Amino acid sequence: MSNSSLREKNIVFIGFMGAGKTTIGKLVAKKLYRDFIDIDQEIEKEYNMPIPKIFAEIGEKAFREKEKELIQNLCDYKLKIISVGGGAFLQEEIRKVCLTSSIVFYLDITWEAWKTRLSSIIDSRPVLQGKSMAEIEELFYKRKEIYKNNYHSTIEISNQDMDELAESIVKTLKLSWELHETK
Ligand code: S3P
Repeated sequence: MSNSSLREKNIVFIGFMGAGKTTIGKLVAKKLYRDFIDIDQEIEKEYNMPIPKIFAEIGEKAFREKEKELIQNLCDYKLKIISVGGGAFLQEEIRKVCLTSSIVFYLDITWEAWKTRLSSIIDSRPVLQGKSMAEIEELFYKRKEIYKNNYHSTIEISNQDMDELAESIVKTLKLSWELHETK
């Protein structure tokens, strides 16, 4: 619904794996009294298995199709807070539908801060498995190029308190809603 008012638009969080999209998304949703949807969790529910198993048994291609289908369907709604997987914005159709229907918030993190999180996320992220640190770093910067060219608002999230970050995101959103309405 590209013609919904700014205040009614969904908020979509994008950024690299393990950047904190789900944590921040949940906190923002709570502060705004809105529903939170994590696309990865929705895909896991559909297949009734965790993501590494989906990649291993059904394949990444099917995962990406399901990811696109769920995001496209959700973007027909309003007022949702959505966290999309770090690979979702590689698909042009997903970028387009999110950028027209929703406010896209890019959670930016530095490589230095991100790499300290690797050990805690690798088991559940098949895309990172079997790669050297140099290959992961290359993927990190390649993805950054996509994120930084496809968002409405961004926040640097390295080494910061998640609740404070969610609070500043809410403030930014409220300010832009007010500015938009008084035009
Ligand atoms: C992926 C990111 C994951 C999940 C899947 C693939 C990616 O989501 O969708 O493992 O290609 O970046 P998070 O970004 O929430 O980790």
